[in-house]
Amino acid sequence: MNDRPTNEERDRRVMDLYERLLEIEQRLIPTGMHVFGHPSNNREIVDLLRMVASFDRPELGIRALTDLVAEGLSLSPYTTLLKETNASERRLMERERVEAIVRDSIALFTSTTGIGAADEAVSFLVEQASVPAAESRKVFAMLSRLREQLETSGELDSLVRALRGEYIEPGPGADIIQNPAILPTGRNTQAVNPYTVPSPGAIKRAGPVAEALLDRHVKEAGRPPETIAMVLWGIDNIKTEGEAVAQALWLLGVAPQRDALNRATGVEVIPLDVLGRPRIDVVMTVSGIFRDLFGTTMALLDLAVRTVAALDEPTGMNYVKRHVEEHIADTGCSFDEAVVRVFSNAAGNYGTNVNFMVLDSQWEDSRELGDLFVTRKCFAYGRDSRGRNFDGREARALLERALARVEVTYQNIDTTEIGITDVDHYFEYLGGVSRAVEKLAKARPRIYLSDTLSPNAKVRTLEETVRLETRTKALNPKWYEGMLKHGFSGVAEIEHQVTNTFGWSATADAVPDWIYDRVAETYVLDEEMLDRLHSFNPHAARSLVGRLLEASGRGFWSADPAVLERLQDAFAGLEDELEGVRGSRGAGVQSSSFSLPARKQQPEG
Ligand code: BEZ
Ligand code: MG
Repeated sequence: MNDRPTNEERDRRVMDLYERLLEIEQRLIPTGMHVFGHPSNNREIVDLLRMVASFDRPELGIRALTDLVAEGLSLSPYTTLLKETNASERRLMERERVEAIVRDSIALFTSTTGIGAADEAVSFLVEQASVPAAESRKVFAMLSRLREQLETSGELDSLVRALRGEYIEPGPGADIIQNPAILPTGRNTQAVNPYTVPSPGAIKRAGPVAEALLDRHVKEAGRPPETIAMVLWGIDNIKTEGEAVAQALWLLGVAPQRDALNRATGVEVIPLDVLGRPRIDVVMTVSGIFRDLFGTTMALLDLAVRTVAALDEPTGMNYVKRHVEEHIADTGCSFDEAVVRVFSNAAGNYGTNVNFMVLDSQWEDSRELGDLFVTRKCFAYGRDSRGRNFDGREARALLERALARVEVTYQNIDTTEIGITDVDHYFEYLGGVSRAVEKLAKARPRIYLSDTLSPNAKVRTLEETVRLETRTKALNPKWYEGMLKHGFSGVAEIEHQVTNTFGWSATADAVPDWIYDRVAETYVLDEEMLDRLHSFNPHAARSLVGRLLEASGRGFWSADPAVLERLQDAFAGLEDELEGVRGSRGAGVQSSSFSLPARKQQPEG
């Protein structure tokens, strides 16, 4: 058999590779930490303005510059150009042409000072892409305001005034791209009125993402999932006015119903013929912060599940009803028991602690991580059929039963500011619930994350997201050099990045060998780099090397023996210097089950 690819197949692969490179290149990443009181630098301003200008702002009557340019050039809408997977070369060229013109117009705008800046950019767009001046003028008026706000910072001033007990003007809390009205910073961040959640905007954004999630599963598994476990966080739903809440409702096939005071307190069922697909069973594992902020929203989500479970519909089109009926038939429990789907911590408790277990290497078998997730999150919230609130009731068996049916675990990502390897909370939640499902359902779930910040909302697998995050951060000189400018804390950030990546091995086996290979090459085998890490922050440098050794020791990474030897030498060197005692305990490295391989010896199996 001749397995050489055909020319067509080769072309397709090259285009696919090209698209992936574009995705990496265009990803917005933080290049360093925010320094309190410092305004953004010019480069950040250019990138932020370009992203802000790439979205419609219907509330301001402003259209996305990318769409205006595509339209001016008589091309398909930019979002259509983006959506085409396996796009033809011509389509990709068109996309690039649009992006280049947008980029150049923003560069021209930011390189010019004074009131003429917007005029120049507007004329440029008329010449290059026949963009109507009246439309682009609105965009640049908004960008002028934002530019001014980004170039100054009133943070220190506000802090001092707040310490004096003076009034600080309030402002919304969000991501700048989602809501540019967060500028200027240095204001008193206001949260949200939970009764308004989910907002009409959040509902509008949720539909395409929830459908993309289902489509992705259909593409990979041939059918929609019957049950999805969703992670819901508080701050994210403040920033997005309930985007993830709206996604959960959408999957169930209901829409929020507002009462006379415009509060979202009821649900309206979307008929199956409008929905055009089965209602998905959604198990919600909710953070402690969400529980504290969104009590009425938890009641809404619980009501949505109960309403859907009680519909008179065929169970083949209503998986909530199917599972509730099965549960009752199997155990003889009540409807009220079988329908519980909203879980969080016990009152007053926060977090899953899975992150602490991983950071401290205090685990032997990965199933312990899933068990801990269940122990922390098995408290049920909602109201029974008689309207009695059972908030915070311990219900381990119910959570276990619900998770045992899960085929997909999912979390909505709505920001470019914090990714899944920047903080330990993503792996503690999404990784934690995935490990719990793996044990209870006896199969690893498919793990997905959305990326609702790109104009073309995307759903990626966890593995794809880990790859993208690693390539754009830990392995990207722009990212790590940005961090290293901060010296001690920068090295700590790099170490966190590596440890949080390791967290995805511990909770989801989602980190391939090449990532560890390249991380080791970048930070440890490169002696000059290791020296820099060491001189800025020897503790973090030691933890980083120790974490790589732990990845190997736990079997997450089959490292080249010569590389391991170099890591062991580096670790021993850092350890000796820090503690003066050879072979003593390394931070985050040893546990009862896992011990660091002795110097110059191979680790055991
Ligand atoms: C939350 O907003 O709910 C949240 C924030 C940080 C970690 C976990 C949850
Ligand atoms: Mg934290």
